[in-house]
This record gives sequence, structure tokens and C-alpha cells, in this order.
Amino acid sequence: MLVSATEMLKKAKAGHYAVGQFNINNLEWTKAILLTAQEQNSPVILGVSEGAGKYMTGFKTVANMVKAMDEELGITVPVALHLDHGSYEGCYKCIEAGFTSIMFDGSHYAIEENKAKTSELVAKAHELGMSIEAEVGSIGGEEDGVIGAGECADPAECKMIADLGVDMLAAGIGNIHGKYPDNWAGLSFETLDAIQKETGIMPLVLHGGTGIPADMIKKAIDLGVSKINVNTECQWAFQKATRAYIEAGKDLEGKGFDPRKLLAPGTEAIKECVKEKMELFGSVGKA
Ligand code: 13P
Repeated sequence: MLVSATEMLKKAKAGHYAVGQFNINNLEWTKAILLTAQEQNSPVILGVSEGAGKYMTGFKTVANMVKAMDEELGITVPVALHLDHGSYEGCYKCIEAGFTSIMFDGSHYAIEENKAKTSELVAKAHELGMSIEAEVGSIGGEEDGVIGAGECADPAECKMIADLGVDMLAAGIGNIHGKYPDNWAGLSFETLDAIQKETGIMPLVLHGGTGIPADMIKKAIDLGVSKINVNTECQWAFQKATRAYIEAGKDLEGKGFDPRKLLAPGTEAIKECVKEKMELFGSVGKA
């Protein structure tokens, strides 16, 4: 059931668990995540970066595929279709394409410009019943061409952006997209605690979910994180399973070259990865 992310995140914040955002790349990814959410009776957010949207030939293709798949698979759990790290123009394209949720990443603008653009997009999104995420302080590393320095957010700026009426707020707390370096200092719980105190009931978003140890995830949820984004880990799961299939020579046996067979182990691996994360985030059974 396609919905905005507003209600599922309010419930998650009140219930002290987090909803997973899993990024999609193609039909297999989308199908794997939707089926797992249904099997686990969990709410879910499908994340689409601008790069992935372009890869799938445009946001309209994505929105139409997700809507049709949701219907044809008989998905009854709440599913939000969300733009990840959207530009100002990208947000308008997703609004037009029929997404149910957007993220405006204005973290690279000066705070006044971030405020002005976020505020305009909040009004537009809410007029259409969509949810909107904003960002303060950048997430380190690279997410599909969006590069961040990884500085921790200023709690006072977080409050300023939260007060614009956004439905969820991404704040940099030392998190990084992709693989964490061996000398990573870990999440700054001091910053997270200060942000949570400033922003109250606002659902907070933890980007860069790949590779964060389970105890840090649990602590982040305790301190107000209600949405956790995972992308790279599903890509690794898909890659490893596909490599194993080919290295075992299975593509050379019988009709093992059939793309439906070739992509099946990777698709199953994504399902397993999503299930593990839903269990860790506490969203199983919360649909
Ligand atoms: P990872 O690729 O590190 O899991 O980050 C995903 C993310 O934050 C998407 O916005």
C-alpha cells in the first residue's frame, strides 16, 4: 500500500524502533524489498537516488513500476516511495512523477538558503499529502555522485529546519555513505542527543546504515532515530551471491544463463539482507 512516510515514522518514533529505507536500482531490487516487507509485516521506505532514477530511465518509470508492483504483488504493508538526497529540481520531478515522499538535501547551501528552499518544498509536499525529509550537516562519503564532507550537524540549525514542518530530519553525526574506514571514530551520540533534545518528537534519520555495528544502531534508535537508510549492504549481498553462482559454473549448466535464474541468487540475498535489517531496526510486525 503506497503511502507517505509521515504516519509510519510517527509510529516508529513513539514505539522506539526504526523503519528501514532500502535503495532500489531495478525491478529485482524493488520486488525483493516489497516481498520482504510483506513477509515480515513491516513498513518500508523505497529510496531512489537521482542517479538510480536516471538509470531506470526516469522518475515516472520508477513511480509507475512501484505502483503497479505494489498492486500486482498484493502488498498491504505501508510502503513509501522516497527520493533520496534530492536536488531542488529533482524534488519537483518526483512530485510530478507521483512519489509519496521526497528528501530535499540542501545541506550544501548556506543555512538561510537551505531554510528558504526547504520551506517552499514543505508547503508543496504537504499540499499533495507527501512527506518530506531535510538535511543539516553533511553525511560523509559519496552517495551516487552526492559527496559530503561528513561534518556533524549543529543542533540549533537542526531545530531551525525542523521548525519548518518537515516530517523527518537527516543530521550528520559522523555517519558515512558506503564502507566505514578502519579508523572511523563511530557515531557521535553526544551530537545525536543534543539534536534530539532540540527537535523533540521529530523522527531523525540515520544515513549510511551499511556497516554500523548493531549496538550503535540500537543506541541511535534509543536516542530518537526512526529511519535508517541502507544501500551499499544490499549491493554487496547481490554481488556476492551473483559471483558465487557464476564461479560455481551454474550459468553454464542447462538454462542457467536465463536472466531469471542468473539474477535469482542475488535477489534472494537482497531479501535476506533486508530481513536482517528489519529485525535489527525492530520494525518486524509493526505494519
Ligand atoms: P549506505 O550505502 O552506506 O548504506 O548509505 C545509504 C544511504 O544513506 C542512502 O541515503
